[in-house]
Amino acid sequence: MGREGAVAAIQMQRVGKRFEPRHADGLAYEALAGVDLAIGEGEFLCVLGPTGCGKSTVMHLVAGFETPTEGRVLVAGKPVSGPGADRGMVFQNDRALFPWLTVDQNVAFGLEVAHRTPAAVRAAVDSNLELVGLTGHRTKFPRELSGGMKQRVQIARALATDPAILLMDEPFAALDAQTRRRMQEELGRIWAVSRKTVLFITHDIGEAIWLGDRIAVMTHGPAARIKEVIDVDLPRPRQNMTPGFVSLYNTLDASIRAESEAMHNA
Ligand SMILES: Nc1ncnc2c1ncn2[C@@H]1O[C@H](COP(=O)(O)OP(=O)(O)OP(=O)(O)O)[C@@H](O)[C@H]1O
Ligand SMILES: [Mg+2]
Repeated sequence: MGREGAVAAIQMQRVGKRFEPRHADGLAYEALAGVDLAIGEGEFLCVLGPTGCGKSTVMHLVAGFETPTEGRVLVAGKPVSGPGADRGMVFQNDRALFPWLTVDQNVAFGLEVAHRTPAAVRAAVDSNLELVGLTGHRTKFPRELSGGMKQRVQIARALATDPAILLMDEPFAALDAQTRRRMQEELGRIWAVSRKTVLFITHDIGEAIWLGDRIAVMTHGPAARIKEVIDVDLPRPRQNMTPGFVSLYNTLDASIRAESEAMHNA
């Protein structure tokens, strides 16, 4: 439930998600079944799981881009009925930017929708482009950017409106090792001062331990659910090679590996 006494910012209660076939002769796919998860206000929760298990689907449900076919998804105690300014999102795929807008305009978009003053828009765009190191690329269009740069525009856009909740789907996967490390540190710093609630999906066990208060491991699909939620009981800032870090790494690695093997043998 996150920090002691905290209100659950995000709750998934026995959530199922079944994708209906697009063609009459197709088969439905039950991606999730019985997903239970509560994320406390101000908590940083990481989600790990074998590929294709349904991690992005979990995020899309909380974001309001998908609706559950069973159970309930609540944000701040209310059922999610669609996307909202309370949730900033970084999607896994790099088609999430508006292709007809420049870097500047993509980051400004949510601020303008929220009717911020031009000066406030300018300030938020400037500081967030600076944060992700894209100040020199502000007039470019998404098609002129590398995958890692597009991902950084998404991160700047998600942070610009200062949402209470950040939903991040493998946000750093496309970045080079140095940028990735820098962005992890920056996100950790932003989280520490802003106390945002973060739902962070990653394939990288080290990254999950580095950033998370708790780590949820999913089972393999179909009908994936939360297999276990593990507390990261290590002092911050986290140290890479301490015995605690290594031991937790091995536990998580074995847990995910067991799921991947079960998936391949199914
Ligand atoms: N819109 C959709 N229609 C049909 N099936 C879908 C849809 N979206 C996802 N799925 C299926 O649901 C399952 C979970 O997909 P999801 O993208 O959530 O997995 P993931 O854990 O994020 O994978 P990855 O680790 O590769 O990012 C997959 O089998 C996928 O094919
Ligand atoms: Mg995914």
